[in-house]
Amino acid sequence: MPPSPENSPNAVISEQAVAAAVEAALAAIAAAGDTAQLKAAKSAHAGEASPLAALNATLRDVPADQKAALGALVGRARAQVGQALAAREAELAEAEETARLAAEAIDVTAIPARALPGARHPLSTLMEQMSDIFIAMGWEVAEGPELENEWFNFDALNMDADHPARGTQDTFFVEPEERHLLLRTQTSPVQVRSLLDRGVPLYVVSPGRVFRKDELDATHTPVFHQLEGIAIDKGLTMAHLRGTLEHLARAVIGEGARIRLRPNYFPFTEPSAELDVWHPTFKEGARWIEWGGCGMVNPNVLRAAGIDPEVYQGFAFGMGIERTLMFRNGVQDMRDMVEGDVRFSQQFGMVV
Ligand code: DAH
Repeated sequence: MPPSPENSPNAVISEQAVAAAVEAALAAIAAAGDTAQLKAAKSAHAGEASPLAALNATLRDVPADQKAALGALVGRARAQVGQALAAREAELAEAEETARLAAEAIDVTAIPARALPGARHPLSTLMEQMSDIFIAMGWEVAEGPELENEWFNFDALNMDADHPARGTQDTFFVEPEERHLLLRTQTSPVQVRSLLDRGVPLYVVSPGRVFRKDELDATHTPVFHQLEGIAIDKGLTMAHLRGTLEHLARAVIGEGARIRLRPNYFPFTEPSAELDVWHPTFKEGARWIEWGGCGMVNPNVLRAAGIDPEVYQGFAFGMGIERTLMFRNGVQDMRDMVEGDVRFSQQFGMVV
């Protein structure tokens, strides 16, 4: 019952009035759904203008003999409301904290939706894989310059001045002409550089970029890659060449791979052979595929590097990396390898 001037002092502060004020306060506190609503309930039911505050204020008007009892009644009521407020406040604060944490939660196991920034190019990984096959056999990896001296690219490899490959038609010469610099047409000059730098016995592979004056189409590109190999030791024969290349073929293509050597001519090897590989799982059916060239190192190459061909002999080989990727992975068009579309590289997986 709200206090009113018509009520006598005894009626103004009654047990019912206190109970009603407490009941209203507890209901408002329970109904508050968040801390803002609770704050409003607090000021309405426990604030200065609340019924309980008004009842408390009337205490001064009650007769002295009732003061203690009524005072205790109002005091208990205010304490009850205060406890209910504190309890609800803690409850709401905890619920709000839980909701905030849930909203801010990060799933650390989630896979990010953003696109991968890139992928290693399959030509790079294939060159590494092929080099690793030789490293496992104790060979070394050598590098040579892409801007090469004409002597290393041709003369030292037993290619005469009138050899057709030397023509400006086939090669990019770099001015001034008298410096005899060109973009290397093959990785074979690394054979001579390795012989001069490292001496014999020598077991070296050299992957790298080479350049020719070719038009870009599905099966040609003016910039491509080769893997060169040279082994010089006492008593090396063509049987060693065959065994090495057959091992390489199996490691690159699979256990069913075989190799075949067909007589051919290269100025830096004698005898020379064309290297074919039997690809048992080729996309359009098992078949022989031309892979590269090889042979026993020509004594003239050894002499150019100051090595006595009567004491040391060996073999050499070279093959195209783009070509290897094409038949190994069924790539139809070489242009896909040079266009730089990351989706091409991503098909080969994130090899590191
Ligand atoms: N350099 C040759 C080419 O580009 C490939 C080659 C043939 C390399 C025979 C060799 C070899 O080492 O012995 O066509």
